Amino acid sequence: MEVKEMLYEGKAKQVFATDRDDVLMVHYKDDATAFNGLKKGTIEGKGVINNRVTNYLMQKLEGEGVPTHFVEELNGRDTLVKRVRIVPLEVIIRNISAGSFAKRFGVEEGIVFDAPTIEYSYKNDELGDPMINTAQALALKLATPAEIETIRTLAFKVNDVLKAFFKEVGVDLVDFKLEFGRLSDGTIVLADEISPDTCRFWDSKTHEKLDKDRFRRDLGNVEDAYHEMMKRILGE
Ligand code: TMP
Repeated sequence: MEVKEMLYEGKAKQVFATDRDDVLMVHYKDDATAFNGLKKGTIEGKGVINNRVTNYLMQKLEGEGVPTHFVEELNGRDTLVKRVRIVPLEVIIRNISAGSFAKRFGVEEGIVFDAPTIEYSYKNDELGDPMINTAQALALKLATPAEIETIRTLAFKVNDVLKAFFKEVGVDLVDFKLEFGRLSDGTIVLADEISPDTCRFWDSKTHEKLDKDRFRRDLGNVEDAYHEMMKRILGE
């Protein structure tokens, strides 16, 4: 396998072409941003942790029947993935109130919901990823009705699998963000990452935050929290 030119650079990752037309390579950086890039920093070792954690969880999800873009982990920071056209929707599932949900609806953080919620943002940095509903997403032709149905079903399935898994390692899965992509034949697959950057993880007993909120909110011990999550997930 040969790595070719960089196709895209995001806030936390770079994407490269390879000698296979249908396969790309993702490189995970230590760069961290928050509030649509307003806050910038580095989380030492984050790239390796997010790469390894994402790949572990993607493979677990594949085993449970969720199609993903994962192909092969090359090394600590680099992974081969299937080339997809990203659906420009961020899909957010919540099990417990926190973050923008708590702020928007004027409730405290930590309310355990009877059933998970789903919401979508339009993935558009210039607009600051505004919240969008499915009718609006259809009006903007961001996805077809069938794709939105598939995305919704898969997102809740991901939540069922991950919630149960994290419970076993003593972590409450508070909320998380997913992205989906289309393979060349149109199949919808889970893409992007699943990591402490894109999920809220609270220790089940102490409720200590073990995710990017430590960076967003200047809580300190950011690296320790990422390491702790890797340890619990990968068992090392
Ligand atoms: P929120 O409460 O700020 O809306 O975040 C909900 C979840 O989505 C949380 O687990 C963090 C994740 N998230 C991202 O992955 N990327 C983002 O740009 C934002 C705003 C949130």
